[in-house]
Formats: sequence, C-alpha cells, structure tokens
Amino acid sequence: MHFLVINGPNLNLLGKREPEIYGHRTWDDLWALISQDIRATMPGVELTWFQSNHEGQIIDKLHEFGFNDQTGIVLNAGALTHTSIAIGDAVAGITTPVIEVHLTNVFAREPFRHHSYISAHAKAVIAGMGLGGYKAALYHLAWLLSASK
Ligand code: DQA
Repeated sequence: MHFLVINGPNLNLLGKREPEIYGHRTWDDLWALISQDIRATMPGVELTWFQSNHEGQIIDKLHEFGFNDQTGIVLNAGALTHTSIAIGDAVAGITTPVIEVHLTNVFAREPFRHHSYISAHAKAVIAGMGLGGYKAALYHLAWLLSASK
C-alpha cells in the first residue's frame, strides 16, 4: 500500500503562518509525528508527501497517483479547496480514494471557507482535528484499501 499526502498553497508556511490559527509546528514536525505513528502501526506501508503552491502541479500529482488500486490520497488543498473546480474535477476523475483534510474547522471560520469543490468527490472529509486529521485519514484509507480486496 502506498499513501500520498498532498498539501496545497501556503501549507509550507506552517509554524510561521498565523500560528494562532495553524499552531507553532512546522510541516516537518507534523510529518514526523504522523509518519512515526503510521509506520509503527502499519509496517511496510509506503508513505510520501508532496506540497505545492500551484494548482496545476496538484492536479498533475492527482493524475499521477490516481489510477492505482493500492494507493490512497490525503488531500489538504488549502484555499484551492474553496475555489478550484479543476481540482474537484481531478478528484472526480481518478479512481484512487481521496480523503479531504483540513487542519482547522473550516465551518467555524469565514463563510467563504464553508464551501468545498472537493468534498462531493472525496471518500470522506475531516476538518478541525489538526495533525490527528491526517492520521485518521490514513487509517481510513488503509481500511478502504483492504476492504476493497
Ligand atoms: C486549510 C483551510 C483553508 O481554508 C485554508 O485556506 C488553508 C488551510 C486547513 O488546513 O485548515 O490554507 O485547508
């Protein structure tokens, strides 16, 4: 099994960016905690992450990993969640399961964050659980991939 985490715009700034909202941990800190947990409970699983500030690069990555039945994708598209019909179409167009994740509870924030072009095509949506949301998404993907066998 291969799990890919895709982070969209500005998530490279975690730790520096509005820490009162997104916390003081960098993505490297979060990834160390997430991958340690997943590797301990699911040895043998391949885990990779990708971050881009560019919509097209995120779409290319979804296409690249999107047709493998042993792969699952966790997608935090950042603000592109709320604006990108193209990313929504890419998620709809691939067969690999995608779980949409947000560090913050987008529904408790500004109204423009309440709509997602991705949610209708995602297997599940997690918001407001911080790094725990990524872990929960990865566990759910493992369950989905083994249940589909
Ligand atoms: C986010 C929420 C989005 O509204 C925001 O634009 C982000 C991060 C989150 O993880 O909470 O960049 O996706």
